[in-house]
Amino acid sequence: MSRKALIAANWKMYKTPAEAKAFVDAFLPLVAWHTRDEIALFPSPVLLPTVVEGCKGSNVAVGAQNIHFAEEGAFTGETSIVQLKAVGGTHTLIGHSERRQYFAETDEIVNKKLHTALKHGVVPVVCIGEVLEDREAGKTASVLKTQVTGAFAGIVPEAAKPIVIAYEPVWAIGTGKTATPEIAADAHRIIRAEVATLLGADVAAAMRILYGGSVKPDNATALIGLEEIDGALVGGASLKPDSFTAIVKY
Ligand code: 13P
Repeated sequence: MSRKALIAANWKMYKTPAEAKAFVDAFLPLVAWHTRDEIALFPSPVLLPTVVEGCKGSNVAVGAQNIHFAEEGAFTGETSIVQLKAVGGTHTLIGHSERRQYFAETDEIVNKKLHTALKHGVVPVVCIGEVLEDREAGKTASVLKTQVTGAFAGIVPEAAKPIVIAYEPVWAIGTGKTATPEIAADAHRIIRAEVATLLGADVAAAMRILYGGSVKPDNATALIGLEEIDGALVGGASLKPDSFTAIVKY
């Protein structure tokens, strides 16, 4: 089954509105006729209105890096899915390893956020991945299975179609250490097999699984070109229009 790749930029906590606007102005013309893949930008919440406005009518979608699972409430510092949609965001990352590591997000919280995103028709990109100690202890497969099972609790096959998974080995994030294509493909097969167990072979065959972790222009083809890998979630190399364009056009 052919899956349309998604090439996504996670800007993390970088850029001011002026810098975000400059990126969009430079980037959109570079990818204007690119239809092979879907493209999405994930800026900080305060940048969302600027980036959504700049990408209006283009082939580039915009999403949040995080949402709360509640639709509104007394949750100081959080952003709700209703707010995201109101400013025109269509996607959201969920459970990025930096959220798990620094903000104590658990599989249970990820699961609640996934339900919220699906309920509101926002495309969820669920991030999973093992830390170095897990890999060295031979626990990669069990960690990935636990994360997928936890994230997908209570999700039925009919509702799962919009879900995208991003496999981001934590040891490869921001370190310049990319997983080899073999390591990445192997992890993607484990993840897809787990999705098949939980939601059936058809859902698993259609679900996009992105790779993230030190994706750069010079390694993008070797990774995204693989049958098992359906796109990329890019951090550092997504901050400049030229390097992100080179990855989009791998
Ligand atoms: P880097 O591409 O900077 O390693 O970041 C990956 C990432 O965390 C994307 O979500």
